[in-house]
Amino acid sequence: MRIDIVTIFPEFFDVLDISLLGKARQAGIIDLGVHNLRDATTDRHRTVDDTPYGGGAGMVMKPEPWGKTLDGILSADGSDADHEKGPLVIFPSPAGEVFTQSMARELSTEEHLVFGCGRYEGIDQRVFDDTATRARVRLVSLGDYVLNGGEVAVMAMIEAIGRLIPGVVGNPHSLVEESHEDGLLEAPSYTKPASWRGLDVPPVLLSGNHAAIAAWRREQQLERTRRVRPDLLQP
Ligand code: ADE
Repeated sequence: MRIDIVTIFPEFFDVLDISLLGKARQAGIIDLGVHNLRDATTDRHRTVDDTPYGGGAGMVMKPEPWGKTLDGILSADGSDADHEKGPLVIFPSPAGEVFTQSMARELSTEEHLVFGCGRYEGIDQRVFDDTATRARVRLVSLGDYVLNGGEVAVMAMIEAIGRLIPGVVGNPHSLVEESHEDGLLEAPSYTKPASWRGLDVPPVLLSGNHAAIAAWRREQQLERTRRVRPDLLQP
């Protein structure tokens, strides 16, 4: 998968060199490009924001540097003739649809994702409208809270999406038994020693009875989901 990120803080994404995603890049599974939005400015101060039309607090990101940067990325992909199949451009935004495990799974099958990290009070609306004439565009929110900018949200999305790409996580079975994969929270996990600080591992897990273990885990998942996230059990 090709991933492009547009940001005014390119250093923020240096951590994608390490861990599982770093290995996936070295293995050629993920091809990453990080673009500094300020490289597309023409003034001495490399200005990317301005005051909002109509008044109001804060600053809005100007359309020109975004247009120029996205033009470069989208034209390099060479697929804007048929934009149902070309790159998918994602703008993290508290005003977007909520990111979920099923969205991560859907996005993990894309060939080319472009993430545009907004800062300040947002990006000029015409950037979304103009981009939508050439590519699929989605506004995506991490949840019902406000971050200072899109960078942290993009990092979270790339981690959730990247680990679902075949070959990124060594043992694909470990993906199946996780929270949210079957719509429930995952069961608690234990490792050795069997007794620690007076706390014992539930005996069923030491029994070797696989059916009993599966039933126990399922019951734990249901109990935990009912208690912590009853909203997930609504039809
Ligand atoms: N940018 C600011 N807040 C955000 C959120 N909750 N999700 C995604 N991007 C954001």
